[in-house]
Amino acid sequence: MSGDVILDIRDLKVSFTARRAGRKRRVQAVDGVSLSLAEGEVLGIVGESGCGKTTVGRSIVGLARPDSGSVAFRGAEMIGAARSSLREMRLNVRMVFQDPYASLNPRRTIGDAVAEAGDINGFFKSRAERSAAIAATLTAVGLDPSFAARFPYELSGGQRQRVGIARAILPTPSIVIADEPVSALDVSVQAQVLNLMMDLREELRLSMLFISHDLAVIGQISSRVAVMYMGRIMEQAPTRTILDHPLHPYTISLMAAVPKPDPSKRILGAIETGEPPSQFNRPAGCVFAPRCPLASNRCRGDVPELRPVGDGRVVACHNI
Ligand SMILES: Nc1ncnc2c1ncn2[C@@H]1O[C@H](COP(=O)(O)OP(=O)(O)OP(=O)(O)O)[C@@H](O)[C@H]1O
Ligand SMILES: [Mg+2]
Repeated sequence: MSGDVILDIRDLKVSFTARRAGRKRRVQAVDGVSLSLAEGEVLGIVGESGCGKTTVGRSIVGLARPDSGSVAFRGAEMIGAARSSLREMRLNVRMVFQDPYASLNPRRTIGDAVAEAGDINGFFKSRAERSAAIAATLTAVGLDPSFAARFPYELSGGQRQRVGIARAILPTPSIVIADEPVSALDVSVQAQVLNLMMDLREELRLSMLFISHDLAVIGQISSRVAVMYMGRIMEQAPTRTILDHPLHPYTISLMAAVPKPDPSKRILGAIETGEPPSQFNRPAGCVFAPRCPLASNRCRGDVPELRPVGDGRVVACHNI
């Protein structure tokens, strides 16, 4: 890892309009997230379902439109940039999607799916070059090149996710955002697909944002981890630091949700205490305050800022 920042996200905010009981409401899916990814690094993002992990990823690759904030690739701003200057950045920052079933168009061949980013951006100089690139990429993800002519319904979940990975690495990007790339898969194939991703990361020298519920997976693959709750980052630190010594009450409760003696084997679960979070009823102060055993009046009134606490860690908590 050279240490140069390759992706810098500052104060990202993303909201959606959702209907609830017939009325339109704003959902603040991401509420001021800042993250930076160093060249060659794998940064993990963990947090409960609905906390905004996918929305962060989609905003980075241009599939969700942020309300405000900045996403810079090698120092160049992507949000609001002209289409022409985005082309190279879009090819360099790619996403492996959470659901390999929903993310492939059932009417397009696997070859077309794998070549899509190249096709959109005029990457291939000839049909022959395109076919060769598809074949090489399928081989790289452990699929026979003959898969190019097949359709998604003919593939198993594990094979589909290999295609999902192939789509993200042709042409070879600098950054892959892996959105729970194995959580929709059968347990028996999860390890194979994860190993494939780790091998490709090394071979292709990728930097990665790795979104997961599974601390064992995060522990294996990422050097730092950011813990999200209701659209905000609660704590961010080197992975070992978080696993051995979680500090934020939310991180502690997440790790306690499924107790296992070996912290690296813990699986994140939904925490059981307090009110479940509702996007339609965001707390005024710390978003975790309604469920937090340490919450005081200050926590219910003031939003805690992320601040460094010394060991390479930042925490957003008034009580630490
Ligand atoms: N296109 C959309 N329209 C309306 N609301 C959305 C949309 N996408 C996401 N949301 C809402 O934004 C919030 C964050 O969703 P997001 O998918 O980013 O969460 P997540 O952390 O990836 O969850 P999971 O672990 O279940 O994948 C949720 O409340 C979700 O319902
Ligand atoms: Mg998600």
